[in-house]
Amino acid sequence: MITVETVADLRHSVSGWRAEGKRVALVPTMGNLHEGHLDLVRKARSLADRVVVSIFVNPLQFGEGEDFSSYPRTLIDDSDKLSGVGTDLLFTPTVTEMYHRPQAQQTKVEVPGLSSLFCGASRPGHFAGVATVVCKLFNMAQPDIALFGEKDYQQLMVIRQMVQDLSLPIEIQGLPTVREVDGLARSSRNGYLTDAERSIAPALYKQLQRSAQALQKGNYDITALEQQAMIRLESEGFRPDYYAIRKAEDLAKPGPEDRALVILAAAYLGKARLIDNIQITLE
Ligand code: PAF
Repeated sequence: MITVETVADLRHSVSGWRAEGKRVALVPTMGNLHEGHLDLVRKARSLADRVVVSIFVNPLQFGEGEDFSSYPRTLIDDSDKLSGVGTDLLFTPTVTEMYHRPQAQQTKVEVPGLSSLFCGASRPGHFAGVATVVCKLFNMAQPDIALFGEKDYQQLMVIRQMVQDLSLPIEIQGLPTVREVDGLARSSRNGYLTDAERSIAPALYKQLQRSAQALQKGNYDITALEQQAMIRLESEGFRPDYYAIRKAEDLAKPGPEDRALVILAAAYLGKARLIDNIQITLE
């Protein structure tokens, strides 16, 4: 595995591979890698001839008072993990390599509609930051395929819409959430949990499963299910941000005829903001 910090070095390697007719995959990350990220790399390995992974903690997607400066940066450890799963190139740009201008003057990619819901409502500007950095990484690495985890379901939808709207010639592949044995979705932010909070955390996924079962049994009172879930999460020690049952394809409110649904949740537990979701197809 080679590690490069500049766009010029990244382009040099990728253009060499392209000249040889190789198919290139990109896995964008912010580092502090866990099994979910490594799964994306393994899948990328099986779908392409060359795998590029980026590690960049993107200031543009963090709001004021959020955890940009404390976000875990574990490059040596990440690098070891990546070389063990067949990464060809690790791209670790600095902030100035990625952004030549101050944030306020930076050209941004806005994906309207989807970006203002749920995580976007709680974190204004977050999805413009994500879409901008992912679009830049796509332009820099020019991959044939890029892979993202479904844990960030809304992010995946924003990226799919951006690719479609901007006619980017890149296939987007989502991969199922990787979980701990007790159901907690793997996330770099799980490291913020104290031992006591860690023992509460799996209750978020359990609640998603409970709502999914209720829907499968024919309880279609969406508003009541959402409210009950918020109350239950609060009683379990979370500070719920949102809990929403939506159509899987566009996050609109479902009607009785809709079968493919997603239940999305975000809740604070101490310093950590946990997000998770479950997709269901009603019988
Ligand atoms: O999901 C993430 O880790 C980030 O949002 C991403 C896609 C790497 C963009 O910074």
